[in-house]
Amino acid sequence: MDPSAPILFFDSGVGGLSVLGPTRALLPQAPIIYAADSAGFPYGTRSEAELAERVPALLVKFAERFHPRLIVIACNTASTIALDQARAAIDVPIVGTVPAIKPAAQQSISRVIGVLGTEATVRQPYVDDLARRFAGDCTIVRHGSTELVTLAEAKLAGDDVSVDDVRAAVQPMVDAGPDMDVMVLACTHFPLLADEIAAAFPAIAQIDGAAGIARRIVHLTAGQRWPAVAPPGIAVFTKSPRRLPTRAALAGFGLDQLLIL
Ligand code: DGL
Repeated sequence: MDPSAPILFFDSGVGGLSVLGPTRALLPQAPIIYAADSAGFPYGTRSEAELAERVPALLVKFAERFHPRLIVIACNTASTIALDQARAAIDVPIVGTVPAIKPAAQQSISRVIGVLGTEATVRQPYVDDLARRFAGDCTIVRHGSTELVTLAEAKLAGDDVSVDDVRAAVQPMVDAGPDMDVMVLACTHFPLLADEIAAAFPAIAQIDGAAGIARRIVHLTAGQRWPAVAPPGIAVFTKSPRRLPTRAALAGFGLDQLLIL
C-alpha cells in the first residue's frame, strides 16, 4: 500500500465532516480527500433511482482521480440506497454509514426511539430491517428533515444557527413520541448541530454512528503504512456550492486545500 494513498470521504455536503472528525482523531497521519457532491445536494429529496445511479458513478470518477485506499460513504442517504451498487462498481473497500438503531435500542429505557434522518433515509427498507432486527420491542418514530441539513450547512458557512430553528425542525418527531429518550442522528449533517439539539431537547440522548465508523476504518487499514506527517487534506466540491464552508471550519478538520471540479 502506497503510504500516500488517501482515505476518501464522500457526502452530498459538509455532513461527512462529522465522520471525518473522529477518524482523524484515531488516524492523525492519514491523507484525506473529502468529496462533497454539491452539484447533487441535497440528497434527501432525491429519488432512489437517481442516487443509485449518481453515487456509484461519482465514486468511480473520484477513485480514478485520487486512488484512495478506502472510501467512506459518510452519508446515510447514499449508503442506505447505493452502498451495494457502489461496492459492485469499485474495486476499493467501501465503508458505509447506517442509522445507529442498534446502540439506541441498547440504551433506551422508555423503548421509544426517534430516527432523525433525511426524507429519503427514513423511508428505506434498510431502516425497517434494522428496526426489526435490533429494536423489535421499541416504538420507532421516524422523521425526515431537509431543514436541519440546510441549517448544518449554514452553520459551517459561518451563520449563527438558532436553537429555536433547530427545535422547530425536530419538534414534530418528539411530539409523535413524547416518551422518547434516545434519538438516532441518522444523517451525518445532524451531529454538526449536536449542541443546538441538546439545548432544545436536553432530556433526549443523541446517538450517531461516527465513532463506530472510525473504529471500523482503523480495523480495515490495520498494518498499512502512512506518511510520517499527514499532507494537507483536500476538500473537493462537484460544483461551487451555494454556501461554501468557511476556511476555518474546513481547517478544523485538517482540510487546507480546496478544489472545485
Ligand atoms: N449527509 C447526508 C446523510 O447523511 C444527506 C444530506 C442531504 O444531502 O440531504 O443522509
